Amino acid sequence: MLETKRLLMRPLTGDDFADYAAMMADPQVAGGLAESVGTSPADAWRSLALFIGHREIRGYSHWALVEKATGRFVGRAGPWRPHGFPGLGVGWCLAREHWGRGYATEAARASLSYCFGELRAPEVVSVILPGNVRSIAVAERIGHRHLRDVQYGGRTVHLYGQRARSTPD
Ligand SMILES: CC(C)(COP(=O)(O)OP(=O)(O)OC[C@H]1O[C@@H](n2cnc3c(N)ncnc32)[C@H](O)[C@@H]1OP(=O)(O)O)[C@@H](O)C(=O)NCCC(=O)NCCS
Repeated sequence: MLETKRLLMRPLTGDDFADYAAMMADPQVAGGLAESVGTSPADAWRSLALFIGHREIRGYSHWALVEKATGRFVGRAGPWRPHGFPGLGVGWCLAREHWGRGYATEAARASLSYCFGELRAPEVVSVILPGNVRSIAVAERIGHRHLRDVQYGGRTVHLYGQRARSTPD
């Protein structure tokens, strides 16, 4: 569990399904993701199960983001490294009504610190669809730079990232 100024970041659970499915039902949300996913409740269930299962396998995953002031589900963000992913990733995804408030950047910064501090990652990357200007802005705000373009999931995507500032001890 992590805590930022405005967010609690806690493990996703099956109890998040209704909020998660509502978030993913918006084509603007699902359409931004590099890993293509549909907007149906069944698609959302499989996506949620993937993030919960990733924690079981890797010991870390995206957290549920909860607005401290209201207890509302805001989205998900965190470290991510499924098989075939080009490095240790950090990712972010917010329900549409929570865009434009700085929550993604707040969660991304905490996730990045976790990757460097707790996971001792030498480098952290993010895979972003070309044209996803909001996600690119988040990446740049947390200090990522465009590294190169890569093939991922059958598409050409931008690989953003940054190296740890000091060598881990
Ligand atoms: C990508 C995504 C997470 C970005 O969300 P976002 O709300 O634009 O990003 P942030 O949380 O960093 O918010 C930044 C905006 O909040 C504004 N803001 C308002 N209050 C703020 C505050 N207190 N602190 C910081 N920024 C604040 C900023 O000015 C900025 O506004 P702008 O976009 O008009 O310049 C969101 O668009 C999303 O979930 N998209 C669908 C899924 C997706 O594409 N995920 C990424 C896959 S790679």
